[in-house]
Amino acid sequence: MRVIVCETYEELSVTAAKMVASQLLLKPDSVLGLATGSTPEGMYAELARMYERGEVDFSEATTFNLDEYYPISPDNDQSYHYFMQKHLFERVNLRPGHIHLPNGAAADVKAECAHYDQMIEDAGGIDLQILGIGHNGHIGFNEPAGELNDCTHLTSLTEDTIQSNARFFANEEEVPRQAITVGMATILTARKIILLVSGRNKSEPLRRLLTGKISTAVPATMLNLHRDTVIITDRAANDGR
Ligand code: PGA
Repeated sequence: MRVIVCETYEELSVTAAKMVASQLLLKPDSVLGLATGSTPEGMYAELARMYERGEVDFSEATTFNLDEYYPISPDNDQSYHYFMQKHLFERVNLRPGHIHLPNGAAADVKAECAHYDQMIEDAGGIDLQILGIGHNGHIGFNEPAGELNDCTHLTSLTEDTIQSNARFFANEEEVPRQAITVGMATILTARKIILLVSGRNKSEPLRRLLTGKISTAVPATMLNLHRDTVIITDRAANDGR
């Protein structure tokens, strides 16, 4: 696993954006797996700037986001639909029909999960998957547990994640208790993975990942099973491990 240590969060964001742009240059119709959270915000901002400068073209790309709260309406400003619109989709030339997120308002969740996996498969799988990491080591909403799911599924957020995500809501009670997330097997079948790790509070899961040992108690450690993962980290996360 390659580890790129950037001096700052800004450098991390620019480095990640350049990799996404390079992927699209090499394969314009790439299938991108996208993540939400505060870590990739800088990368999306840089991609929007690159698009304005004519340095990246999303016109043939397809995207699949990792997860979405459940239940939540797509126009709720705490939904990941809303986040992605604001940070990327309305700022670049992705075709609306090529954008996919799990539907947090689906009446039949099981059917929605199966449909989401099918769409990823029909698109030929993920070429480049962007990931963040929770400070509890989660990937998407694949939370620490005795067993992990392979496919897209409905899951309960851990208390730790609810507390961590409360910063985006008026209060902790408003954080949805469940989410739809792509499973670990789908993530691991991505051809290339870029994991973004920023900030001191990510040092511990980063350390656990880099021991090379695999444990479902730290879902990110499963990335050790993947053959082409690049970790982009900043000094704050890297020096603390
Ligand atoms: P963060 O979340 O980027 O907001 O820290 C990452 C994650 O929980 O996967």
